[in-house]
Amino acid sequence: MKFFIDTADLSEIKDLADTGLLDGVTTNPSLVAKSGRDFVQLVREICDVVPGPVSAEVASTDFDSMLAEGKYLATLAPNVAVKVPLTPAGLKVCKTLSDAGTMVNVTLCFSAAQALLAAKAGATFISPFVGRLDDVGQNGMELIADICTIYAQYPNLDTEVLVASIRNPIHIIEAAKMGAHVATMPPSVLRQLYQHPLTDKGLAQFVADWAKTGQSILPKS
Ligand code: E4P
Repeated sequence: MKFFIDTADLSEIKDLADTGLLDGVTTNPSLVAKSGRDFVQLVREICDVVPGPVSAEVASTDFDSMLAEGKYLATLAPNVAVKVPLTPAGLKVCKTLSDAGTMVNVTLCFSAAQALLAAKAGATFISPFVGRLDDVGQNGMELIADICTIYAQYPNLDTEVLVASIRNPIHIIEAAKMGAHVATMPPSVLRQLYQHPLTDKGLAQFVADWAKTGQSILPKS
C-alpha cells in the first residue's frame, strides 16, 4: 500500500518525507486556505520535496475553466496529479487530461457507481472519502470494499483506489486488508501508525539491560 500525506503544510511534508515512507501528497482547497500559502508556489515546492504524485485541485466547477486550470497545474511539475471533483464536468476534464497523459485524481467520491464512472473516465486515482461517510452514519469502509471488489473484476483497469478522509489507523489497516492501493492520511495519523505502548516498554527494557553489559557494538577507534 502506498502512503500519501493529506496536508498543505510544507514543514510537515518535509518532516515526513524524511522518513523515506512517503509516496505522495494530496492537497485540497480547504487545506491550502489553512496554509495561507500561494497555491501555485506551494505546489512547486511540494513537488520538489516529494517525487511521487502530488494532487493539486482545480478551483472552478465548469468544464472550460477546470480544463484550463488542470492544464496549467500539470505544467508546474511532472509529478502533479490534477484533482477534479466527481461531477459530469469533472469527469469530462478527467477524460481529456488522462487521454493527454496527465495524472488525474477524482475526488469527492461517495458511491461505488461514482467510482465506476471515474475509472471509465481514465482516472489515475479515485478518492472515496471514508471519514465523511462515517460522519453521516454510513460505513465508509464498506464503500472501499465495494470499489476494490468492482475494480478487481477488470484486471486491465489502471485506476488506483486512494482511500481519503482517513481519521484513524483502523481505516488504513482495513483498507490494506481490502487491497486498496493508496491511503492518504493527515500527518497525525501517519505518526500514530508507529505507536504501540509495548514497543516503548520493550525498548526501554532492552536499553536498560544493554547498559548492564557495559559493551559497545562498534569497535572503539
Ligand atoms: C483527500 O484527497 C482529501 O483532501 C481529504 O482526505 C479530505 O479529508 P477530510 O474529510 O478530513 O477533510
